[in-house]
Amino acid sequence: MRGDVDTIKERLDIGEVVGQYVKLEKAGKNLKGRCPFHNEKTASFFVSPDRQSFYCFGCGAKGDIFTFVGELEGLDFKATLKLLAERAGVELTYVRPEVKTEKDKIFAVLEDAALYFESNLRESAEAKKYLLSRGITDESMKTWRLGFVPEEWRLLYAHLTSLGYSKEILFKAGLIKQSEEHKDKEPYDIFRGRLIFPLFDPSGRVIALSGRALMKEAEPKYLNSPDTVLFNKSEILYGLDKAKDEVRKKNYAVLVEGQMDLVLSHQAGVKNTVASSGTAFTQAHLERLKRLSARIILAFDGDTAGKKAAEKSTILALSLGMEVKVAELPEGKDPADLVGESQDKWKDVLRESKHAIEIFLGEILKNEKDARKVGKAIERSILPLIALLSSAIERAHFVSLIAKRSGIREEVLWEDLKRIKTPHIQKAKDAESENEAQQAETSTARERIEERLAEALLWQKELPESSSERIALEKEVAELTDRLSLALLEEEIVGLKVAIAEGQVGDAAVRRIEELARKRDEERRKLM
Ligand code: UTP
Ligand code: MN
Repeated sequence: MRGDVDTIKERLDIGEVVGQYVKLEKAGKNLKGRCPFHNEKTASFFVSPDRQSFYCFGCGAKGDIFTFVGELEGLDFKATLKLLAERAGVELTYVRPEVKTEKDKIFAVLEDAALYFESNLRESAEAKKYLLSRGITDESMKTWRLGFVPEEWRLLYAHLTSLGYSKEILFKAGLIKQSEEHKDKEPYDIFRGRLIFPLFDPSGRVIALSGRALMKEAEPKYLNSPDTVLFNKSEILYGLDKAKDEVRKKNYAVLVEGQMDLVLSHQAGVKNTVASSGTAFTQAHLERLKRLSARIILAFDGDTAGKKAAEKSTILALSLGMEVKVAELPEGKDPADLVGESQDKWKDVLRESKHAIEIFLGEILKNEKDARKVGKAIERSILPLIALLSSAIERAHFVSLIAKRSGIREEVLWEDLKRIKTPHIQKAKDAESENEAQQAETSTARERIEERLAEALLWQKELPESSSERIALEKEVAELTDRLSLALLEEEIVGLKVAIAEGQVGDAAVRRIEELARKRDEERRKLM
């Protein structure tokens, strides 16, 4: 009897699976391309169809289709197994044992909460009417599993306890709260009198909720689940589970700010749209997206806050080496408003989006007539963006564009550009800080490895001894452990280099680096 893991590996061609994410070319018996796990310009990422594995000579990333897809899609081993089983047309024989981890229980209770809210929505004429009035169709309500909860204190609490969930799990899932003053009282629901948008992880499981007040005066307008073991506000991309394939296919993502914007954008057929939920886009968001495509269109509200947010996101994205366009929304409108007017208007606005630098330059020239002030504004907010561009050709293109539009001489712009020293630019330019840039990558890489390791260890315990899944997982644990020690070594080396560059430590640090580097190279060889 063969295990599911083996069957899946046998049926799927690693070159094909990886090729859906990374452009690969033939290199003898192997395939090669640019590594998706770290920033690189030359291809040091190899895929071996014979050995069913991949390896990156640049960063040491290594593994099989499970490791690869899991990391790129942001899935744990279980979810990856499910996804690849589907792709391979393999029916999983493994039956979930009765013992559930705490995470499993939180997933389960959130799923039941979402089901409960969905059924409430079907019964609430008022809530449905509101959504329809916002232009959201019945079909979208189903697709996005929208829900509703009436204005009562303990509806969800009562429902979920009747299903057998403990108070403790409800707290940990971020669904209920205890009153500080009345400690003797029963806990109460966090979400009351709200429309509910479940938030999903990349594999489509509910990991948190966002509730929109139905009444105008209720505060806040949107209420999100607190951070939990499953949910981190600054990392979740709303809609990613349904958008990721499209983002990859179209090779760009559309970024909006709100849940309504997102649902309506998808409804209008722009299925590569994702949203941040209640926060500005963070580096974690953008790194996540970059693994699918390095091109984004920012489509934020047409107001001052939206413009500020677009500038902030642009700086982040450009320093990550992404290509950023900005869609200009009419004053006072958001994407949801536009789709409401007509789907074509929304698509037109996206089609007319231009490179962020061009948009911001246009803004300055539109609002500022005084030549001296135009110059100042360009120096302050446009040149730093240009300095972030890694391609010299692009930098030249924009310098010439500014010169043409503003009348400032190119030489003068170049002169000013040279003087700009933002942390990002230094990062991109000198060799020492190339390591710094890598450090940012390494630390997230380390975190990812740690997370996967924790998951794998937990799950390993649940699996029957010597089942093929368990053996596969044990292998994965061993590999992850090796990769973790490599990542830790790299982190320490970079930390020391930075300390030396800042003049904090002396010669001893240099020797320590040499020693660490030797160990690291050994580890790398072990991983090959
Ligand atoms: P907006 O205030 O622009 O809301 O906030 P919206 O999307 O236009 O809301 P609708 O269309 O009236 O329903 C944009 C996003 O910021 C977050 C939410 O994710 C919201 O979708 N937000 C907003 C909060 O988290 N809390 C709030 O109180 C308000
Ligand atoms: Mn809005």
